[in-house]
Amino acid sequence: MMNVEPIILALVVIHIIGLSLIIGSFALQLRRKQGFEFGTMLIGAITQLVTGLALVGLLQVADEDVNNAKIAVKTIFAVIVLVSVLVARARQGKALAAGTSEKKAALPFLHLAGFAALVNVFVAVLWH
Ligand code: HEM
Repeated sequence: MMNVEPIILALVVIHIIGLSLIIGSFALQLRRKQGFEFGTMLIGAITQLVTGLALVGLLQVADEDVNNAKIAVKTIFAVIVLVSVLVARARQGKALAAGTSEKKAALPFLHLAGFAALVNVFVAVLWH
């Protein structure tokens, strides 16, 4: 059987970088009023889903324990991050076209995305 341990470690590194893209971009934009940038959070959200699912598969290959309830919760919150960023981006686009407040349109969903990512950090670290 192939040794998947180095691949698992590489994926964990990418997983942590993906997490920093979401929360870093979120924190940077908290005080912004318009012109929010969603690309970084979007890449982070997709990275988390892809590397997270790949990790689950490889941990099973390596015969390591996987907590299915924890994975289910993390998947739900990761999807909330992704959908919130997409909704925020769409709402900002509409507000821009209508000349209404970008902050009102986008910021609540930016908050939701950042909050859901933070929840996943707590779940990842505290639930064993
Ligand atoms: C916003 C989304 C996510 C964030 C912020 C996040 C955060 C983290 C963090 C901080 C760790 C390291 C924890 C530790 O080693 O104690 C971790 C590990 C892990 N995550 Fe995620 N995660 C996210 C999404 C996901 C998803 C969607 C899955 C699976 C479908 C997943 C599966 C895993 C697995 C399997 C590990 C453990 C790797 C190991 O230590 O062997 N994560 N995650």
